[in-house]
Amino acid sequence: MIERIAELRDEAEAAIGAAGTSAELEELRVRYLGRKAELPNVLRGIATLAPEERGPTGKAANQARQALEALIARRGEQLAGGELEERLRADVVDVTLPGAPPQPVGRLHLLTATRREIEDVFLGLGFRIAEGPEVETVYYNFDALNHAPTHPARDRMDTFYVAGRDDVVLRTHTSPMQIRTMEAHPPPLYVIVPGRVYRRDSDATHTPQFHQIEGLAVDVDITLTDLKGTLLAFARAIFGPDREVRLRPHFFPFTEPSVEVDVSCFMEHRAGTRCRVCKDTGWVEILGSGMVDPNVFSYVSEYGYDPERVQGFAFGMGIERIAMLKHGVPDLRLLYDNDVRFLEQFG
Ligand code: PHE
Repeated sequence: MIERIAELRDEAEAAIGAAGTSAELEELRVRYLGRKAELPNVLRGIATLAPEERGPTGKAANQARQALEALIARRGEQLAGGELEERLRADVVDVTLPGAPPQPVGRLHLLTATRREIEDVFLGLGFRIAEGPEVETVYYNFDALNHAPTHPARDRMDTFYVAGRDDVVLRTHTSPMQIRTMEAHPPPLYVIVPGRVYRRDSDATHTPQFHQIEGLAVDVDITLTDLKGTLLAFARAIFGPDREVRLRPHFFPFTEPSVEVDVSCFMEHRAGTRCRVCKDTGWVEILGSGMVDPNVFSYVSEYGYDPERVQGFAFGMGIERIAMLKHGVPDLRLLYDNDVRFLEQFG
């Protein structure tokens, strides 16, 4: 019996040493150490042997089993290590290769690009950016901006009221943020406010939703020339270094005096053809503005805006209008159709 054990052990050791894969090794483990294998059977049958054989046979069988188990474990580790290496070599991915095919990089929508361009100009002049709610109270949209109770803009024909309410609207301009920023920050204040606004208007040159940028500067000793100089810097940054601006008297409920601001035409003018941008007047209207009406300050006097002490200017421009003028876009609706053949030309 002891000889048979030694034979089995030699045979198994040779086979294990020659195993080429983990799977082969597993087969050998089953063959030599599995439940139906010979060696474990010997161990199970020790009790049936003659008493004097039990000790030496049991010892030899046990040593053989332990030796084979250890050998299988070692060989298993070797094979697993080699197989892992092999898998890593086979599965290698070159992460430096470009995606296939490389995807084209997108671009900003003309309106986004224009908004950012305008923001950059005013950031450079020391203004900060604020944003506010599009669903606004009548108080901020009209009352605190000095609109008379009968002002036509309040009419439901012109303004979207929130269903069932007469005190909540979709803001018709970014000007309500004049009041909100003054409530939140004491003077001096230099802010611009980009954002969506809403009016009940829809035709070739009007959409019910469009974008504005509001500007507000409040300090001691602010004058109309500060407004003009600021807007001249803006006009030159956006429309070219040779631009001039002019102010024309106008009316807004919340500025006094109020002005409309024109920029000198930036198109090339040729004799015999009428300029389609300025209609040969030499000037193009770009925005509305004025000096903050002292009545507006009286709505925020408790926040440090004493109309006897501070002055300010405010302006509001349409981003669509600036983009269309600058890039010669003939129809407002092109900005919203999202036809990539149009959009790809900008940004
Ligand atoms: N809110 C005005 C409009 O939408 C523009 C404006 C802003 C005028 C600030 C004066 C001062 O028409």
